[in-house]
Amino acid sequence: MHVTVMGTGYVGLVTGAGLADLGLTVSCTDVNDEKIRSLQDGQIPIYEPGLEEIIRRNRERGRLAFSTRLPEAIRNCLVVFVAVGTEAGPDGLPDLRQVWAAVDMIAESADGYKIVVIKSTVPVGTARRLADRLRQRPPGAPQFDVVSNPEFLREGSAVEDFFHPNRIVIGTLSDRAAAVMKDIYRPLYLIQTPFVFTTPESAELIKYAANSYLAIKISFINELANLCDAIGPSADVHVLAHALGLDPRIGSKFLHPGPGFGGSCLPKDSRALVRIAAAYGCPLRTVGAAVEVNERQFERVIEKLRQGLGSLPAKTVAVLGLAFKPNTDDVRESRAVRICEVLRREGCLLQVFDPAAMASARRLLGEDGMGYCSEAYEAVKNADATVFCTEWNEFRNLDLQRLKQHMRGDVLVDAKNILDPAAAKRWGFRYFGMGRSA
Ligand code: UDX
Repeated sequence: MHVTVMGTGYVGLVTGAGLADLGLTVSCTDVNDEKIRSLQDGQIPIYEPGLEEIIRRNRERGRLAFSTRLPEAIRNCLVVFVAVGTEAGPDGLPDLRQVWAAVDMIAESADGYKIVVIKSTVPVGTARRLADRLRQRPPGAPQFDVVSNPEFLREGSAVEDFFHPNRIVIGTLSDRAAAVMKDIYRPLYLIQTPFVFTTPESAELIKYAANSYLAIKISFINELANLCDAIGPSADVHVLAHALGLDPRIGSKFLHPGPGFGGSCLPKDSRALVRIAAAYGCPLRTVGAAVEVNERQFERVIEKLRQGLGSLPAKTVAVLGLAFKPNTDDVRESRAVRICEVLRREGCLLQVFDPAAMASARRLLGEDGMGYCSEAYEAVKNADATVFCTEWNEFRNLDLQRLKQHMRGDVLVDAKNILDPAAAKRWGFRYFGMGRSA
């Protein structure tokens, strides 16, 4: 079967490469010539473990191609996956212009029946509206079915998630489209991935609800970490999270306190769900509260630094970790970047290091007051304080003695609780964790 993927962002690229690996013939297209040219040259625009390998393998086998020639790709395929960007617009809802444009292009190029699969995260009701638009074609024009098939890929483990998903959600009113989708994902069905067949509206809502639930869980544990801080050293959020997680109704995942969640999905989707629900006259107060808590959580990190350093102006602060989470170079809505911006405004000099996100962070933060370093020990040189913002594995194994020797000061703010507080104290640090102390 031939499929076309529109959009070679992180979702489109992983989906396209993954589908090719499942044995389909995939044409990945994009309106950006330059991006397609560099993909044709074998360059992968994002840092995603395992992706380069499956792209290379499937190109060699002739199952994966990159192209800007969309009409040709559409004519050659039965199914078109729409994975274009839906960044939030000024009203907090996704900007759907690229989705509408994509669907119009499909309608113009199609020479026969096509199944249009919406991968991009879009508000409830969008798939149905797109289907209505496609139905308003002149008599005799090709027929279309629309499917909502949300992605649940985690950045940093997207390839693994593609091949071992927790579930595949297929929202469509067409039996024919549902059967084709099942056929596409058959290899995953054979390894017992649960399939959820439902309406487009439920499928669209599942995506928002999943991310909002995760957001609630994180904001919940972050507030409890703040409470532990208020109670003092006798309360430890880690012990609390561990004990909470042992109850299977709660579960241990997503109970790690920190500076708040970031990235391209959780903040955007939870804000959007609040707006979507409000538009239906049905406020989602729990999600709204999770968003609000998250917007302020990073301030705790600034406060801990201020507490440790006395005052912030003219202090040198080393920031370790800039990506919104480990194993990615993505800095979208990264709390680390937000922390850098505020510290710089307060007059701090920053020395920063991230194993993957240096270039992307530099584009956001520029040069002013920033020292970009090539490794962690360089970043902490003569620093008054060090703050860990992303839980990269290589940070967990840093030599604390060496770190201390390189620094001028003794303040260690562990915004991701990745260090052993007692060990930090032993090496002479004043340790500030989130909801736990030395
Ligand atoms: C997320 C969802 O997990 C995925 O299912 C969805 O489809 C897209 O969004 P991703 O963006 O890769 O995936 O991020 P994720 O790993 O889920 O983490 C999001 C944020 O939450 C990060 O900033 C992370 O640091 C933070 N987080 C996560 C916490 O602060 N505490 C936790 O316990 C877990």
